[in-house]
Amino acid sequence: MKNSKILIFIIFIVILPIIWGALYLKGKVKQAQTSNSHSSNIDRQGLVQAFEGSYPKTVEASSDVVETDLIASEGFFKAIDEKELKGFSYNGQIPGPEIRLILGQAVKINFTNDLPQPTTIHFHGIRVPNAMDGVPGVTQEPIQSGESFTYEFTPKDAGTFWFHPHVRGSEQLEKGLYGIIIVEDPEEIGFSQDLVWVVDDWRLDETGQIDPNFNTMHDLMHDGRWGSIVTVNGKTTETLNLNPGQVARLRIVNVSNARDYRLNFGRLTAEAIAVDGMRVSEVFNANGFDLAPGNRIDVKLSASSHLSGQTVTISDIFGRISVPMAQVLVGEPQVEENVIVKTADIFPDWSAAVSMNPDYTFNLNAGRGMMHRGQRRPIDWMINNEMYPEITPTTLHHGQFYKLRIKNESARLHPMHLHGQFFQVLAIDGQPANQKYWRDTVLVYPNQTVDIGLVPTDEGDWAYHCHSQEHAEAGMMTLIKVD
Ligand code: C2O
Ligand code: CU
Repeated sequence: MKNSKILIFIIFIVILPIIWGALYLKGKVKQAQTSNSHSSNIDRQGLVQAFEGSYPKTVEASSDVVETDLIASEGFFKAIDEKELKGFSYNGQIPGPEIRLILGQAVKINFTNDLPQPTTIHFHGIRVPNAMDGVPGVTQEPIQSGESFTYEFTPKDAGTFWFHPHVRGSEQLEKGLYGIIIVEDPEEIGFSQDLVWVVDDWRLDETGQIDPNFNTMHDLMHDGRWGSIVTVNGKTTETLNLNPGQVARLRIVNVSNARDYRLNFGRLTAEAIAVDGMRVSEVFNANGFDLAPGNRIDVKLSASSHLSGQTVTISDIFGRISVPMAQVLVGEPQVEENVIVKTADIFPDWSAAVSMNPDYTFNLNAGRGMMHRGQRRPIDWMINNEMYPEITPTTLHHGQFYKLRIKNESARLHPMHLHGQFFQVLAIDGQPANQKYWRDTVLVYPNQTVDIGLVPTDEGDWAYHCHSQEHAEAGMMTLIKVD
């Protein structure tokens, strides 16, 4: 009797609490797992399935090759209206050449560096093989002064893209190194004009030349280098003739070091048909679109007949004052054009991912400048407290869905650009973003949190950085490895 009493005592006081404890802990572990998105009720496979077919994973290298020579050199070039500036150029022109391909064609660029410093070329937004991505120390060695390098690839997507150096960007882009690559879709027809607007800004010194002080304390502590003169295709006032009935395709590219533009098309009808090269899934009003450094927007532009004989100004209204960019002279009405614009056939509905926890968070922050190669910067720009190149890469597996969070903990603007992949903005400060298009660059406002979703398809080591050239050079870059 005594023994069985002791046994019951042991069961109630000792063993049961242990079992309860174990069950309780197990529940805790389970809770922790569910709050970790990997095992939440979010159907990740469903998100991937919704993505399938959004854009091609691979492309065969084409034997139909568009070949071109490209030389970067220093000299005096017409950069602002007729005014010559001492700068850098591709093939002696600012903006640099516009290379046009038809989807399916390959491009081969025989590049020579005649600059007094090393350089590389990055093809912004084009899903190139990793070795063609132009990131020094990651995908290739810097191309030294006097050396050559051949870039060759077959673009997988039709659209508006551009190229620029990835070495000393704050100096090389500001001095005029950028060019355009247009990949035409033979199925999109009927535009009366297909125009490219290369938008840049300039900061000149008292002699009227490009201010040679790069990466100043002020620029580093603020939103990078913003100039006081804005040009479209090297002109302070670009002009365009448009007759009611006609439809123009305007491909607008922001090649500025750091300046953002907010587009205002006045009384014209401006519909966004592509963003960052890729067709949108729903056409939207392009007025008010923020064009951050690196961004492109393709606009279907038309004028109604009651504007006949008038001049409409297209301007940038990002800052406190509106800056005119171009004058559109509206002519006599003519027969309506029949334009065929395609929207994206497949665009995933990822709204289920809005409430999901991010897989990775990238905190954007600044710190007091540290010593780098014997020099101290006034400020370091960091991603998760790391400064490039002392960074820990993030590894993503191709073909899987990821939610990445960009948390801007600073009071500055950061246009965050991811190489080699497109992403969808899911939420801004937790609210559904409703952006029915892909991007390769998103402007993150001070103290804002932007959640993006993506399914990586292209393998390699891809740079992920702030496109404000000054911030990137002050360390705001990391790597995303896709395996
Ligand atoms: Cu257009 Cu890494 O940049
Ligand atoms: Cu930045």
